[in-house]
This record gives sequence, structure tokens and C-alpha cells, in this order.
Amino acid sequence: MRHLLAIEGMPREQAIALLDKADGYVEHSRAATKKTDRLAGRTVVNLFFESSTRTRTSFELAAQRLGADVINMEVAWSSIKKGETLIDTAMTLNAMHPDALVVRAPDSGAVKLLSEKVNCAVLNGGDGAHEHPTQALLDALTIRRRKGELRGLRVAICGDIAHSRVARSNIHLLNILGAEVRVIAPPTLLPPGIESLGVEAFTDMREGLQGCDIVMMLRLQTERMQGHYIPSIREYFRFYGLDHAKLASAKPDALIMHPGPMNRGVEIDTVVADDIDRSVIREQVEMGVAVRMAVLEVLAGRAAEETA
Ligand code: CP
Repeated sequence: MRHLLAIEGMPREQAIALLDKADGYVEHSRAATKKTDRLAGRTVVNLFFESSTRTRTSFELAAQRLGADVINMEVAWSSIKKGETLIDTAMTLNAMHPDALVVRAPDSGAVKLLSEKVNCAVLNGGDGAHEHPTQALLDALTIRRRKGELRGLRVAICGDIAHSRVARSNIHLLNILGAEVRVIAPPTLLPPGIESLGVEAFTDMREGLQGCDIVMMLRLQTERMQGHYIPSIREYFRFYGLDHAKLASAKPDALIMHPGPMNRGVEIDTVVADDIDRSVIREQVEMGVAVRMAVLEVLAGRAAEETA
């Protein structure tokens, strides 16, 4: 593996190896001393063209805990503001010999394009509505640690499927790991032909949530809906917001997940989001650091070995 651009096409053994490695970093991240020197002397650059709290911070923490040097490019203060393109910016950074570039971009496919222009490892921190591979890995790790394994679990991904890179990466990884995947959304937010990705599609929450082990909620990505129909918040919450009444259709021990950022009272009721027995939303954030340590160790470490 030279880059981490997508989950689609990832061999099952590779996904499991990454999850196993990440699992090993969970206890490490809880210890008083969190730093290792596995990436000492390596450089990781975070290049985020869209806002982020979880992904950027956890990549930064992960790189620091592995002993790497980390640079966070401040796009607002970079030469992108003077008209430099994403590719030229990446090639400029590449000339400074980083070992890994973590990139978030608003356009689907932009991170792959960029990976073809640089020498270092490229990790996709989310590209448009295409993929968000580390989110799917941290979601799988969260589920695996709670439920033992993913094979045979029924997972519902609910909400704005049409604009969600999280949904796409999760659909691929959950299928690779043997889960049964359902998507639930209003007809306007269900991409035509979504079943071809290996999911069963529903437009009714109670029907779709029947017997589910995992309920994954998604934010309405209004920033990607320009020129499209945007549902009213009140109407959306009534039919698609996760509250305890709708959740009653899922299994009694179903876990509640959300990749964040969360809009309480829109796609999820605040009582459900904070349900201490079933909500694993904070655990997902914790797993994010472990997963990003695993992928950085594999990719930035390998890049360094190749140039040695
Ligand atoms: N889940 C996720 O990608 O969150 P951020 O946008 O805060 O990184």
C-alpha cells in the first residue's frame, strides 16, 4: 500500500491488518506516556481545503504520538488565496520532502489526482462526496471492539446518503467485512442505483431500522446541496431524525453512531446522542487517533524506507 485513497477495492486482509494494528494503539493512547519514536525524523503535512475538527486534529495527534514532525498548512493564509491551485500547492510541498500528505479536498477524485503528482504517501482525509477511508476504518474498529466482529451484523446508515463520503467508505468496508448494509434516506437523498454498491435501500426509518445492530446517523450536507432541494429541518427531524421512538425498531442493544459534526435536533435527538449505554459517538473519536496512527505508521514509515 503506497497511499490510502479509498476503501473501495481494499483487500479484506489489508483492512483487517489495519484494524488489528489500530487496535494495538488504543491502549497506547490511554497510557500516561503516549509518544513512540516509530516515525522519528519523518514529516507529515496536513493540507485541509475544507473545515475539520476530528480528522485534522487526530491526524496531528497521531503523527505526534508516533514521533513525527507535523505541519498544519493554514489554507486561509497560504498562497492558495493568491490563486495557486491544489496540485501546484501539493507539488510545492512535495519539493520539501514530506513523508506523508494528509489531504481533504472539496472535489471527488482530487486527492487521487494529487497523489499522482507527488513522491510521498498521500492519505485521503475526505474528498467531496467520494470517500473518507479513515472514518470507515475507525467506525469499523469501534464496532469490532463493542460487538466482537462485523460479519453478520445488520448496519443501517441513515440520512444524507447522496452527499456523504462517510456513507460510501462505510458501505465498502462493511461489505468487505461481511456486514449486512442498509441505507435509509428520503428519496431525494438516495442516489439512484445505490443498491449496486451492495446495500438494501429504505425510505422509511422504522422499516429500515428493523433488527439493526448498528444505527449510523449522517449530517445533512447542505454545503453540497447548492441548487438542490433542501428539506425543512422540522420535516426532516420528524421523519428521519433518530429519536427513541424510531430507535425502538432496532435491536435493544443497537449501538448509535455518528461521524460528526452532529446537528442535534436535525438528524439526531439530543437524548439519543447522549445515551450513555448505546451511543458510541465519543468512542468513534477516540478510535480515530488509533486508526490514524496505524495508517501513518504503515504509509509514512514505508515512504521513509523506500527513500533510505
Ligand atoms: N467525521 C469527520 O470527518 O469530522 P471532521 O469534519 O470534524 O473532520
